[in-house]
Amino acid sequence: ISMESKVLIKTAKTNLDRLKDNALLIGFFKDKQQLSQELKYLDGKLGSLISSYLKNNKFEAEKGELKNIFTNKDVKNVVLLGLGEEGKYNLDVLSLSVADASKRLRESGIETFSIYFDSFSNSKFKSEEIAEKIALSCLIGLYKFTKFKTKNNNNKSIRQVTILAEKSFEKELNYANVVAEAVSKTRDIVNTPPNIATPEYIANYAKDIAKKNGLKCSVFDEKQIEKLKMGCFIGVAQGSVNKPRFVVLEYHGAGKSKKPVAIVGKGITFDSGGLNLKPYPYILNMKDDKGGATAAINIVEACSKLKLNVNVVAITPLCENMIDAASYRPDDVLTAYNGVTVEIKNTDAEGRLVLADALAYACEMKPEAVIDIATLTGASMIVLGYIGTPFISTDEKLSEKIKNASKKSLEKVWELPLWQEYEDSIKSDVADIKNISEEGDAGVIIGATFLKNFVNDIPWVHIDIGTTVWSKVDKGILTKGATGATVRLMMEMLRDWK
Ligand code: BES
Ligand code: MN
Ligand code: ZN
Repeated sequence: ISMESKVLIKTAKTNLDRLKDNALLIGFFKDKQQLSQELKYLDGKLGSLISSYLKNNKFEAEKGELKNIFTNKDVKNVVLLGLGEEGKYNLDVLSLSVADASKRLRESGIETFSIYFDSFSNSKFKSEEIAEKIALSCLIGLYKFTKFKTKNNNNKSIRQVTILAEKSFEKELNYANVVAEAVSKTRDIVNTPPNIATPEYIANYAKDIAKKNGLKCSVFDEKQIEKLKMGCFIGVAQGSVNKPRFVVLEYHGAGKSKKPVAIVGKGITFDSGGLNLKPYPYILNMKDDKGGATAAINIVEACSKLKLNVNVVAITPLCENMIDAASYRPDDVLTAYNGVTVEIKNTDAEGRLVLADALAYACEMKPEAVIDIATLTGASMIVLGYIGTPFISTDEKLSEKIKNASKKSLEKVWELPLWQEYEDSIKSDVADIKNISEEGDAGVIIGATFLKNFVNDIPWVHIDIGTTVWSKVDKGILTKGATGATVRLMMEMLRDWK
């Protein structure tokens, strides 16, 4: 997989003055630079190298500031990491600093390092929370996608990270390992080019997960999808030589009587826009349109690996939106799985069409909740930019669950309304509804307004990762490219699902 050479993260009780490692990472708050008793012992052993550095050199402990003191002793490098003002310290600051520091240590050629846990803890947070976030930030931050680089000119990698702490944090490290792996595997597939990551490829990937974890997986091919009368999905899929697949991947961690949580993921392996062709440069990177499906599949696997006490099912319509003589066209009327007719006004609003059938199918399974994850709109950019993900819900309790999971996972989300006034703009002259609003305003909400026609009264959340699926920056846990959006969020939600 992914984190190319996998990083091993562990805890150890080693005293600082006994430590042997390539580097020791120590956090400092801006307003509090005196050394702890333990650091004083280490400092003594190093002939006051740390204290004299702090006295004579400029280290302000600004957020993200990094200073490396080469010792050439048992701890080869003492690395000072600024955490900013203690009053402003939170898990976001922790995550950003630790992830950036890990990357910089890797770039300096170091292969193993230790983290002085106490220097990152703070009375506002439980030590378990801090440990878990340190582990997640290292593992997710160190991700690289190099599958298609034949000249591996930068093969620097971190092999091992040791958290020096009194407690062993086994549960937290296990959670971090499983979630980081799900994030990495999601990023790997989303980053994989569309000539390789076809619908069939992703369906095989899901089957493979099912086999390895003993899960149930059904894959419907083109003929079965047609037989099921998923008319909207077929419409989008019919313009590509890469035939569609419909995947249902199930994990049963709770009793048979417990209803599942259904996660429906948009899986467009490439979105050309269809006959409403996307112009350059908007057509670039449309391989990221499978981010929802990929996340959904990996979330189910992670639930299984963590043996969570919940039933979860991933439902993913997988196809490619292309141009061909057989392509669907504007003016077509398609009939969805639940019988609703849809007039096509724009073949580039294809995500909501494949989701229409998948949502209606999901509701038939009578789940406790349906959550769809979709790179649905470019308009998500206007709402929250790259920082957060907009979501829309029909159920207050479910939306509270999402908000709580957001706080814990550090994946920022914000709820938008689903007022009935929006419904007018997708009324069609010839069919029940049309697939876009011709005014073009409130794109994210219009998308949800359309999708609502395919969910009944089952609590539902629509998460629009159109913007947050991809990062243009290399910062904190983000690396340029796929982000693995919603994996951390969903795992926090499912972790204590009741
Ligand atoms: N997959 C796109 C949304 C998207 C666009 C995500 C750009 C990330 C970056 C989706 O299928 C799409 O094309 N949406 C249209 C909808 C419009 C035709 C109503 C959009 O957002 O422009
Ligand atoms: Mn599109
Ligand atoms: Zn799309």
